[in-house]
Amino acid sequence: FDAVDVIRTKRDSERLSDAQIDWVVDAYTRGVVADEQMSALAMAIFLNGMDREEIARWTHAMIASGERMSFAQLARRTTDKHSTGGVGDKITLPLAPLVASYGVAVPQLSGRGLGHTGGTLDKLEAIPGWQASLSNEKMMEILDEVGAVVCAAGSGLAPADKKLYALRDITSTVDCIPLIASSIMSKKIAEGTGALVLDVKVGSGAFMKTEENARELARTMVDLGTDAGVRTVALLTDMSRPLGRKIGNALEVAESVEVLAGGGPKDVVDLTVALAHEMLRLADARVTEDDLRAALADGRAMDTWRAMIRAQGGDPDAALPSAAHTQDVLAEADGVLTELDALSVGVASWRLGAGRARKEDPVQAGAGIEIHVEPGEKVVKGQPLMTLHTDTPELFDRALESLQGGCTVDADAAEGTGARTDVV
Ligand code: URA
Repeated sequence: FDAVDVIRTKRDSERLSDAQIDWVVDAYTRGVVADEQMSALAMAIFLNGMDREEIARWTHAMIASGERMSFAQLARRTTDKHSTGGVGDKITLPLAPLVASYGVAVPQLSGRGLGHTGGTLDKLEAIPGWQASLSNEKMMEILDEVGAVVCAAGSGLAPADKKLYALRDITSTVDCIPLIASSIMSKKIAEGTGALVLDVKVGSGAFMKTEENARELARTMVDLGTDAGVRTVALLTDMSRPLGRKIGNALEVAESVEVLAGGGPKDVVDLTVALAHEMLRLADARVTEDDLRAALADGRAMDTWRAMIRAQGGDPDAALPSAAHTQDVLAEADGVLTELDALSVGVASWRLGAGRARKEDPVQAGAGIEIHVEPGEKVVKGQPLMTLHTDTPELFDRALESLQGGCTVDADAAEGTGARTDVV
């Protein structure tokens, strides 16, 4: 095979054969196909798409580029969740211990944030002592003893995706359904989970801006998982505004702990409970949503959280880091907050230092945004709408720029205008 032929096939909107796909993914992983050739192919796929069979074969080739894990030796059943990413999406933190408290194993291989969406590992690293990297043996041990583990995926898992994802990130070829579906599902299938609940985000802060595209992504991923023998379902959930009231690394840990203590914002609790319910249903555990709310209220999920954090070197009782500087954003007029756009808030938090522009950049543990007013609520002039947190006060202006236009107080709107409507 020749990379130029493969690129030409897709450039001319023809189907890639199984043999072409197997060859190009393997050759790229081994460094035989160059980055500039894979960039051209990724753009051709972005523009001309792939059909279901091509996507399935591409996913298979990415799985075959590395190791496959197995949880067969565990006494517990495994069930996993994956979110396509958004702003303030800290759900893994309360969800993994909540589900594990029912005797099911939850192996959450997670990532770091890039751009305006946060990463679960960056959030947990705000906890003093907590370690993201574990050997496979240690991971199995924690799954056996505690039930929940959130850690970095080893370098052996779908290495083709690691290379390709980094390339897509710098060639504007991330938001493409065939490439997102194969990227996510290759890692989940290689990980070896028995069941998987996908939280597909839709709205300004998500990859998929429309419900139609989110549905297509969800359907593609559910088919890939089902065909590979993983019990897979998807929920479509709203990401037009941030999830919860805290965005940023330590801030999101703090909000997750509120949920585990039986409190926390309603949208975060509702989504945690809905996803936990699906994960446990797929693992054949009969648990109602009321049971799950009780497990948050009575401390069972918190006990598992504490054990999970300790097992990875973290101190669940340590004070979380906080930023050196804060600034309030005040309402400029009386009225109703009609809009709080997820993308604007996500970019603002990123600019305050909560996220990174390049893979190797550090993140600030304490940076981020606390929201004080929800869309639909009345405000009076001068009332704080949110508080910005950063160690680098010269970043406040850039963050405020990003909030311009994404946070609207309307003097004439009725109370309730712009309040959240969930798509599920
Ligand atoms: N998350 C992934 O793992 N891959 C994508 O392509 C997009 C989101």
